[in-house]
Amino acid sequence: MNHEKELNDLREQIRYHNHRYYVLDDPQISDTAYDRLFRRLLELEREHPEWVTPDSPTQRVGDKPLKSFTQVRHRRPMLSLENGFNEKDIRDFDARTKKFLGGDTAPQYVVEPKIDGVAVELVYEGGKLSVASTRGDGDVGEDVTANIKTLLSVPLVLRPLTQDIPIPELMEVRGEVYMETEAFESLNTQRANKGLPGFANPRNAAAGSLRQLDPRITATRPLDMFCYGLGEIRGLNCETHLECMLAIQQMGLRVNRPHIKACQNLMEVVDYCQQLEEKRDQFSFEIDGAVIKVNQLALQSRLGQKSRSPRWAMAYKFKATQETTRIIKIDIQVGRTGALTPVAHLEPIEIAGVTVSRATLFNQEEIEKKDIREGDTVIVQRAGDVIPEVVKPITSMRTGRESPFVMPTQCPACGSQVFRKEGEVVLRCLNPECPAQIKESLKHFVSKGGMDIDGLGDKMVAQLMDKGLVREAADLYDLRFEDLIGLDKIAEKSAQNLLAAIEQSKTTTFSRFIYALGIRHVGEHVAERLSEELKSLESLQHADEDTLKAIDEIGPQIAESVVSYFADKSNQDHILRLLKAGVHFQDLSPVNDTPFQGKSFVITGTLQSMKRSEAKQRIVRKGGKVGSSVTQGTDYLVVGESPGSKLQKARDLGVDILEEEVFLRLLAEE
Ligand code: IVH
Repeated sequence: MNHEKELNDLREQIRYHNHRYYVLDDPQISDTAYDRLFRRLLELEREHPEWVTPDSPTQRVGDKPLKSFTQVRHRRPMLSLENGFNEKDIRDFDARTKKFLGGDTAPQYVVEPKIDGVAVELVYEGGKLSVASTRGDGDVGEDVTANIKTLLSVPLVLRPLTQDIPIPELMEVRGEVYMETEAFESLNTQRANKGLPGFANPRNAAAGSLRQLDPRITATRPLDMFCYGLGEIRGLNCETHLECMLAIQQMGLRVNRPHIKACQNLMEVVDYCQQLEEKRDQFSFEIDGAVIKVNQLALQSRLGQKSRSPRWAMAYKFKATQETTRIIKIDIQVGRTGALTPVAHLEPIEIAGVTVSRATLFNQEEIEKKDIREGDTVIVQRAGDVIPEVVKPITSMRTGRESPFVMPTQCPACGSQVFRKEGEVVLRCLNPECPAQIKESLKHFVSKGGMDIDGLGDKMVAQLMDKGLVREAADLYDLRFEDLIGLDKIAEKSAQNLLAAIEQSKTTTFSRFIYALGIRHVGEHVAERLSEELKSLESLQHADEDTLKAIDEIGPQIAESVVSYFADKSNQDHILRLLKAGVHFQDLSPVNDTPFQGKSFVITGTLQSMKRSEAKQRIVRKGGKVGSSVTQGTDYLVVGESPGSKLQKARDLGVDILEEEVFLRLLAEE
């Protein structure tokens, strides 16, 4: 083949596969096949540097840091939205809109998640990305083109809508650049490992990553973009906002399509806003509200704008996840691994529907950096299931009676001296007999992800320990009815139930058992990887660091921790006691008759009953596999609300489709 043609074909193919992977979340080729295409393109471009164009997929990461950002004037100002906070504000917006329109034309609305990121405008001229800029003051923003080009979900070249409709001559697309919550957390972990300060939240991480003068740094940050609107356009005709969104999606831009809902009336609008608020923790990215927009573009023009916000849209802001309260005192919690964590006891405060009275302060360094003192009035935040944290003190509210906090030199639970390992910020109590550590290990052992013993809450564990009935996990299996009946708040029935739950926990899976042991750095996912790869307790106990490190996702830190755990004689004895008590793993002698065993699952849409990560874990625990795209080899597609393109693909391939309810029933079957 002629090289120039091959080069163009390769670029076309790579663009296509980028779009499948990053925009549609539905890859069609393997990573290796993609790499092969990419490498061939690089090779051809090296041979023919004169053919390299700025829109080639190889040109996403520039190699020159900028000196400063240049300014870009937006052709049309980037407005902001008027905020509402409750149902009445939504009703008022609807009434205002209808009044303004004068009753002859009824507005239709669309409601979509308000993504908590950074607003960006992409300008496509002749179908090519020419400039990307931040919002700035609304009129003038900063040129972040080089950085935006590193986002693989942003096409450098638009795809034609259909063969006979040409690409718009000019199109300004607006959207939100953001970082997924999980990606944000792992970025912060990586930074902490390198001794760098973490970002306060995903929005700051996204903003900080976008405002890098060196695009090579931005390229390493997991940024994504959802497009939600248009600025100036020449050469595209749509009648509604939704039509525009579908059109730009077809041109290759990423749109939050499954969560954009067309509503026929006010009730549906209010309903969907509430639904989004209830589901906010289930999104893989942070949303801070819902945006309500008039769908018809003709009505949008009639409504026009006020000074800085359009009359045709409003933001319904969710209840704040940050609130202000006071730190009553700071004390130390000793964790399962001996880590000393300072915890702030707060005057109880309701944050987004949950009462918060404690928040973690992480460590001494963090307390000093934020200058947090006992008695301070502070901003506290909670997000999803994570432990609430103190964001910062409000120093202007100090009275002079606040006192700085210093970490103790002795463990508050057992009095032994505490140590800081070189390179770590955490102080640790190294006494294996420390009662606080033992209590936390027991709580971990019986927890949901571990041996899952119902009825053994924190208070019960504390009582069992205080009465000297339980010293280590294996003691639980020696408990008798007579031991329990004398305890506080334990009647005959609950004693029997607890004993039954303890008995039942003896039948478990290998990965739950590994997790329950409480080995440092071994969370549920790592425990699953170890169980999948090593398959038996014996191989796990005898695995050396090299064997462990060879397992995908297991690094040197985990490997070292696992090896030293099993090298410890008292741990070995404890495991032996557990096995002697009758603890055994179901999954080592495979049960082939569950509907999950060896089957391949893919999940699409939002599940109502659990997070996607939980669904994945439960499938894996039952012996199934979870893939990210529907292929010939997929056995079942689990379908939640607003499923994506995977549903059609599954239908096309004849893959069995499981509604959430059916899926739940299968999960519940033994
Ligand atoms: S529409 C006229 N839709 O929220 C402004 N904005 O103050 C049109 N945002 O600056 C904005 N998600 O950065 C719109 N689905 C969404 C959005 C969204 C997030 C941001 C945007 C804007 C701010 C509003």
